[in-house]
Amino acid sequence: MSGVRQDWIARAGQPLRGNVRVPGDKSVSHRAVMLGALAEGTTHVRGFLEGEDTRATAKVFEQLGVRIETPSASERIVHGVGLHGLRASASPLDCGNAGTGMRLLAGVLAGQSFDSTLIGDASLSKRPMRRVIEPLSRMGAVIESEEGGVPPLRIRGGRALHGIDYTLPVASAQVKSALLLAGLYAQGETVVHEPHPTRDYTERMLAAFGWPIEFSPGHARLSGGHRLQATDVNVPADFSSAAFFLVAASIVPGSELRLEAVGMNPRRTGLLTALRRMGADIREENATEQGGEPVADLIVRHAPLHGIEVDGELAPDMIDEFPALFVAAACADGATTVRDAAELRVKESDRIATMAQGLRALGVEVEEHPDGATIVPGPIGGGTVDSHGDHRIAMSFVMAAQRAEGDVRIGDIANVATSFPGFETLARGCGAALDVA
Ligand code: S3P
Repeated sequence: MSGVRQDWIARAGQPLRGNVRVPGDKSVSHRAVMLGALAEGTTHVRGFLEGEDTRATAKVFEQLGVRIETPSASERIVHGVGLHGLRASASPLDCGNAGTGMRLLAGVLAGQSFDSTLIGDASLSKRPMRRVIEPLSRMGAVIESEEGGVPPLRIRGGRALHGIDYTLPVASAQVKSALLLAGLYAQGETVVHEPHPTRDYTERMLAAFGWPIEFSPGHARLSGGHRLQATDVNVPADFSSAAFFLVAASIVPGSELRLEAVGMNPRRTGLLTALRRMGADIREENATEQGGEPVADLIVRHAPLHGIEVDGELAPDMIDEFPALFVAAACADGATTVRDAAELRVKESDRIATMAQGLRALGVEVEEHPDGATIVPGPIGGGTVDSHGDHRIAMSFVMAAQRAEGDVRIGDIANVATSFPGFETLARGCGAALDVA
């Protein structure tokens, strides 16, 4: 995080038109650096997300003795040191704003011969880590946290890990991935079951790096004692970044956007299903595969939306897209109710409370539930909203402002750079009205 507090003023601009190419996928970029670092040989990552979260992960591995070159902003060349080649860092390892970075690193570092300390920014320092500490401890890891199970995490090295058979209490790709990464260092088998399938990038990438792994939606199984072989990674464009434009073009009359070569992993595209159920006009063209992942152009046109119910069947596949969905819901005909999404309360901010507060500040009626909310659409007025340093909240309100009757001041937007560098320029380029306050 840049540390400088910045605000935006956004307001209704032009209908959104043109072609947009959003940056690389955050989840895939984190994992590409991690597996590249632990592999034998050189991994060339193309389409890398040049965001603060993924740069923090790369920096952590440099501190652990991995050489990483940056031939261009969207490329990294990772000179792998092998599974046992990391070296202790004299200083704490700073994951910035990134829950993915910290939780996956906890799994990797639990298997090292040396001690490490993981720290993060103000938001990450409040996020729950017991969900990884508890199962990693069952594998033999020793990890201390602050009171309440929050960072910093002090991870003891030199522990002999053993595999476990573990059923996740909540659907979380981060927890699953932490266990699988620790499983690389464990004696015997590590088996993870999920209550609902989550993104499987770790599993797919481990297989691409030559590690024997069995996986199917909701299950993964691997054993320790193999090697990772470097391989090149092509990172698809991040569906979660495309999501803001899908919503904005859907709600602003006269809009038509082409979002180019967006990652379409089915565990990520729940928002597409939700928007289509609401009546959105979104077509897919040029469907193909890139680095083993489905990608397609998405052509989105303005369409009248109507309210829907979203529950646990769809929630994990759109877990990062609820702020954007709330905005679509505010512009629909009829109420939208979200249930079974209590995980939103422990993201970069409490996304149920932050979105409810922000929408109410603009005159939209929102009723909060412990695990979701009901959004009653109505005219969006001008006003001031606080993003609470949450990148996805800030970008969602820029899109809401494109339908607002007045200026919307969006507070604390510096963290947009964690996941979407260049958002401002792209949004303006297709017609959105947005200024730094
Ligand atoms: C991610 C998993 C999800 C998601 C996050 C990225 C990942 O978190 O919200 O943005 O890359 O594994 P949870 O595992 O907490 O659901």
